[in-house]
Amino acid sequence: MGERDALFPNYAPFPMRLVRGEGSRVWDEHGRSYIDLMSGVAVTSLGHAPRRVVEALEQQLRTLWHVSNWYDIPQQQQYARMVTEQCCADVAFFCNSGAEANEAAIKLARRTMHTVRKEPHRTRIVTFLQSFHGRTMATLSATGQDKVKYGFAPLVPDFVHIPYNDCAALHDVVDEHTCAIMVECVQGEGGVRVATQAFADAIRELCARYDVLLIADEIQSGFGRTGKLFAYEHVHLEPDIITTAKGIASGFPMGMMMAKRSLAQAFSPGTHGSTFGGNPLACAAAIATWRVIMEEQLIDRARTIGEAGMAYVRDALAHCDGVREVRGRGMMIGIELIDEAVPVIQKLIDRGVLAINAGPNVLRLLPAFTIEEELWFEGLAHVVACIEEVHAMRSKTNQDSVS
Ligand SMILES: Cc1ncc(COP(=O)(O)O)c(C=O)c1O
Repeated sequence: MGERDALFPNYAPFPMRLVRGEGSRVWDEHGRSYIDLMSGVAVTSLGHAPRRVVEALEQQLRTLWHVSNWYDIPQQQQYARMVTEQCCADVAFFCNSGAEANEAAIKLARRTMHTVRKEPHRTRIVTFLQSFHGRTMATLSATGQDKVKYGFAPLVPDFVHIPYNDCAALHDVVDEHTCAIMVECVQGEGGVRVATQAFADAIRELCARYDVLLIADEIQSGFGRTGKLFAYEHVHLEPDIITTAKGIASGFPMGMMMAKRSLAQAFSPGTHGSTFGGNPLACAAAIATWRVIMEEQLIDRARTIGEAGMAYVRDALAHCDGVREVRGRGMMIGIELIDEAVPVIQKLIDRGVLAINAGPNVLRLLPAFTIEEELWFEGLAHVVACIEEVHAMRSKTNQDSVS
């Protein structure tokens, strides 16, 4: 890999360069091809260079890239309508990333309590251990992982973190001082952990009892990734605020925060904004992505082919004592290993497959919904083989060191 001395060392990339992508295949600078099972971390859900999104972007590029939110951008209304008709939100705000969507959600929740409900003392936001909500000051304060916060104090106050899927802890902490509960219904970075129905029921009950706002962070799990449009649908929650990004526009940077109409007035003119948020180019990518997902029924496909893949892996690794659990929903799959996942990822790269981890021990698969069935199972066969190989090697090394 070339020099990186003009860059901050905040990323530690694998020593490879990807230069081209088509569908679920990518190629490196030496012409070697890889099966992409990570989709730029749940971003390229339609695969690389999806034709209809490319065409929509090309057409918008020739027409108008950017105008300020000082002017009406009709594509925002068109897209917001398309999405809100299919979910429990009514209004949308556009930004450029997941962290920005969550930042907007946090601001909206606190300002709703302050200005609309006239309960300014309600500032506490409950989030969960292992959650990940972003890297701005407010969103890293919301995040339930110490490593994300280390060295950045003082943090934004009044975030409380409790264990995920722990109903008793939730009952202990939520009260009439709580502003909001912020939850990923499938935790992504935290290890592909799935919310239980009992946990979701406790969230719903406490939000109703104390009139607490519910923020669903759907940044990784949204737009069909889990086999439903949004992951909260699996556990029958109805959030007041939904945050999205990643899979929204096939890799064109975009984020969106949506909310119920009763919260809209908290964001009166001048209270929040973004220079680039929802510009015509981003909206063109999002509209085209949405149309493909809906018209080609890719959410159903994500569910069926994802479940089939998960069943295959579970079965194939049932005998492997290096595997603790295979879990997930749809095309958001985590394989929890006894040992670290990175050596498996490295071995997969050597075999021409891209996957990532979620925390130290979980191998995470986030393929495109459009991946050909044959390629999906070919990739999974490599995943199974690499896990077995790395585990066998480790067991042998451990045995050698004992004897
Ligand atoms: C659930 C969740 N929330 C928020 C974020 C932050 O998104 P971004 O990196 O676009 O700021 C991520 C990114 O991984 C995420 O998975």
